[in-house]
Amino acid sequence: MHPIIAEDYDTLSRIAADIVSDLVRTHPRASLIAPTGETPLGLYRALAARRRRGEFDASYLRVVQLDDYLGLDDDDPRSLYRWMKTAFLDPLSVPDAHVIRLRGNTPDPDAACRAYEATVRAAGGIDLAVLGLGPNGHLGFNEPPIGPDAPTRRVALTPASVESNARYWGGRDRVPTAALTAGMDVLLAARQTLLVVSGAHKRAILHRTVEGPIGPDVPASYLQQANNVTILADKAAWGE
Ligand code: F6R
Repeated sequence: MHPIIAEDYDTLSRIAADIVSDLVRTHPRASLIAPTGETPLGLYRALAARRRRGEFDASYLRVVQLDDYLGLDDDDPRSLYRWMKTAFLDPLSVPDAHVIRLRGNTPDPDAACRAYEATVRAAGGIDLAVLGLGPNGHLGFNEPPIGPDAPTRRVALTPASVESNARYWGGRDRVPTAALTAGMDVLLAARQTLLVVSGAHKRAILHRTVEGPIGPDVPASYLQQANNVTILADKAAWGE
């Protein structure tokens, strides 16, 4: 694990944009996991600004969806695909055909998860997984306790995740309680991982991730054993 400590959130977002830009410059057809949530929004804004200045071109990028709530249509305001489209795909003009979907609005979730894993494998795996850190150490919706081999699957959200997502949708009862998530198997096999972490409220879980025991209680702790992992945190999250 390679830590980078940024002075503040804007610096963190700029450094993250440098890492994504470098990859896309050298591998225009790279496959990238782009999470939803609040932490990567500064990164996405920075990339969109670079695109407007002609400094970033995502025309060939392949984007892999990380997770979605189960049972929501794409136009539901709570759909994570819609979030990704608004925050990332549209501002960067990523064609729909370049997105590997994990569809929440599927009649057969198990088949959708198997198809996703097969499509990611056929695409050659993940070149860069950009990930956020859940307040309970989750990656995607891989909630604790979980092992490193857990496949892409349907999950029930823990009360901690429902609570943390309530702020997006205006209350706990607006948060769906089931989701589909890329498996730990997919995430830990990425050739490169960038974990972005911002804010003092993430400090305790960040330190358990980086230097705590590796195990099911903190899913992100398995990143200690993965290849080529950068932990990009602002000072508020990292501490002194
Ligand atoms: C988002 C996701 C989650 C978030 C995590 C951090 O697609 O799967 O794992 O990355 O909960 O969320 P924020 O960035 O809002 O603190």
